[in-house]
Amino acid sequence: MKIAMNTGGGDAPGLNAVIRGVVLAASQKGWEVFGIKYGYQGLIDTKQIIRLTPEVVWDITNLGGTILGTASKGDPFKYLVRNSDGTVAETDISDKVVSNFKALNFDALIAIGGDGSLRIASEFMKKGIPIIGIPKTIDNDISATSVTFGFNTAVNTATEAIDRLHTTAKSHDRVMVVEVMGRNTGWIALHSGVSGSADVILIPEIPFDIEKVCNKIRQLELIGQNYAIVVVAEGAKPVGGDITIIEKRSDGVVRLGGIGKKVAEEIASRTGKETRDMVLGHLQRGGAPTTFDRLLSLRFGAAAVRFIAEGKFGTMVALHSSKIHAVPIDEAIGKMNTVPLDSDIILTARSLGISFGN
Ligand code: F6P
Repeated sequence: MKIAMNTGGGDAPGLNAVIRGVVLAASQKGWEVFGIKYGYQGLIDTKQIIRLTPEVVWDITNLGGTILGTASKGDPFKYLVRNSDGTVAETDISDKVVSNFKALNFDALIAIGGDGSLRIASEFMKKGIPIIGIPKTIDNDISATSVTFGFNTAVNTATEAIDRLHTTAKSHDRVMVVEVMGRNTGWIALHSGVSGSADVILIPEIPFDIEKVCNKIRQLELIGQNYAIVVVAEGAKPVGGDITIIEKRSDGVVRLGGIGKKVAEEIASRTGKETRDMVLGHLQRGGAPTTFDRLLSLRFGAAAVRFIAEGKFGTMVALHSSKIHAVPIDEAIGKMNTVPLDSDIILTARSLGISFGN
């Protein structure tokens, strides 16, 4: 067997561990593995393909990022091609990807990515490329798996940052507002906020009322806590308001950011408290994966090879309880894994007195 593998979308801690899991498991079967660089770019320009032997991946389990490089643009179904007159047009070059895949005699593609990359993988499956998907995102917003790798590491990073902010908040009697990632879902904000003893957590699933956030801060003062920690997911929005966008790309994808600053400004002007805000940003995507993420990634990689051997094409590797399953890719991309409002962590947060601003 000759296996191709790519990583698409934002990087996440654990990607290299998945790559290692695939390569070592495939080599046990005597199969060859090739890395397609920068998402699908390596199947458009085939010079961007590298042989992945066990020696190449020997010591990469603990490395952040992806040795294959990744791309959050470059969907072959909507590829941006520059015309001779300088204008840029969206073109479908997916047939070129399929013909290169076939010409190189690949038997299967392991596509590691988030919602967007899995959607592209599903389209290629329909065009005849045998695909196994592996879910990746620090946001943990992919359905059909209980968790994605990268999430645990991101939560640890965010929790550690919140812990550090407590010292300044307490010493200066300040409100510290920290914006974490999570464009559509509040998993990182919720898990790190509860673990990091936040007073307020704002998530996309629960539109907030800024006056209720301020009331929580005033109540804390009444009981002698003159500081507060507010954790805000980048995709959080006020009741009746909208998400905060930094940039809208030509392909319609938006970059989020700035809600933390807005919340901090409102808190300062309404409560008169000294307030600071910070954005954790890509710090959450970097660094070595936690033990949990390494193990999950290695398991996902090894399982993808087993699924190829079993002919389970069109499926995605998923974790349910402690077991790894093959689920249809289309099930995973059909809907977003949002935080259930009756989930135990939300109930726990409310029991601890944490405000969601509602
Ligand atoms: O999807 C993961 C994510 O980390 C989002 O939370 C965030 O909005 C986005 O990636 C940032 O992407 P980029 O690296 O393209 O700015």
